Amino acid sequence: MFEALQPLPQDPILQLMQTFREDDRPDKVDLGIGVYKDDAGNTPIMAAVHEAERRLLEGETTKSYVGPAGSAGFNSAMAELILGSNSPLVRDGRVSVIQTPGGCGALRMAAEFLRLCKADTKVWVSTPTWANHLPLLGGAGLTIREYPYLNPETLQVDFGAMLETLERADAGDVVLLHGCCHNPSGADLSLAQWQEVTSLIQRKGLLPFVDMAYQGLGEGLDADAAGLRHLASAVPEMLIAASCSKNFGLYRERTGALALVSGTATVNAAATSQLLSVIRSHYSMPPAHGASIVETILGDDDLRAQWQQELNGMCERILHLRHAFAGALSPVGDFDFIARQRGMFSFLGISPEQVGQLRKEYGIYMLESSRVNVAGLNDQVLPQVASALREILGK
Ligand code: LMR
Repeated sequence: MFEALQPLPQDPILQLMQTFREDDRPDKVDLGIGVYKDDAGNTPIMAAVHEAERRLLEGETTKSYVGPAGSAGFNSAMAELILGSNSPLVRDGRVSVIQTPGGCGALRMAAEFLRLCKADTKVWVSTPTWANHLPLLGGAGLTIREYPYLNPETLQVDFGAMLETLERADAGDVVLLHGCCHNPSGADLSLAQWQEVTSLIQRKGLLPFVDMAYQGLGEGLDADAAGLRHLASAVPEMLIAASCSKNFGLYRERTGALALVSGTATVNAAATSQLLSVIRSHYSMPPAHGASIVETILGDDDLRAQWQQELNGMCERILHLRHAFAGALSPVGDFDFIARQRGMFSFLGISPEQVGQLRKEYGIYMLESSRVNVAGLNDQVLPQVASALREILGK
């Protein structure tokens, strides 16, 4: 049965990660996969995470099953992180938060749930979007439609084109939005634009689905969630996929959450039971370790403060790098958009040939689309990358 199968190429982001690892040039630079790096170029374990793990190791008494919804303590802590404290949605029982294996687990379970609700569900995704959105959502049987998001000339949000296209969506269609730190462009909606999109979604009866993979890495935990919270306060139903990979640095622990918002508590209880049944038939229940770390951190005032301080440090460092990078590139063009954008990613707007040249001649790795992970820069590497770019662009 397997003999007819043809080999598939790897996912481009993961392929780039592997090619980078195999490159033995000592001065190679990784601006590819979206992981945070510190000044020394390492992806550190946060001190708050280390401390939480120490406590868990000491205090853990069982490895028994957790159940398809995961840990109730993690889920309520995540509800507060995403929706803010005293959210009326939580108070009124209109939201359930379910622990998932990473943000990907949340996205895929949401897609499976949406197909269960309506077999021919259409989901509108931004052009461009994170490449893995397409197989995660499309693979569950949803029909993918695209709305223009980024103007490829200016590398800024083309809000008019976005609204114009979404006007053509049908009632019941799903709109996928990036909560903050748009991947791959770094170009976010302003709060006023979130308000306009919210009005469109309400007027047309669309279902918003927000991917919140970078909360805390744009401008701060609450500022990054402001658009999402506005939307959540205005619509009857909504889905939110959240990830703890970046803001807790728990990448390989696969820690995330899916929030399901319904019009009433009764509807939410029924919808949640369906979602849990979908989960049971896919992976039964999520892994516990990463979620236990998050629960421990968010449930302890001191640890939470320590984590928040570390996260703020990461956020500020990215902002510093954005400004420094834009400044270093200014002799060969206007790269100020890098300083204005948020999160880990920006496009440089250079050609695939130039991207290839940077990799081959200078050992600098970025996605073929010219998406760079700004967090992969540091004060040593930045001048090296800027000088290579100035040489290439100055020719
Ligand atoms: C990225 O966009 O590089 C990250 O989200 C990592 C991944 O899994 O693609």
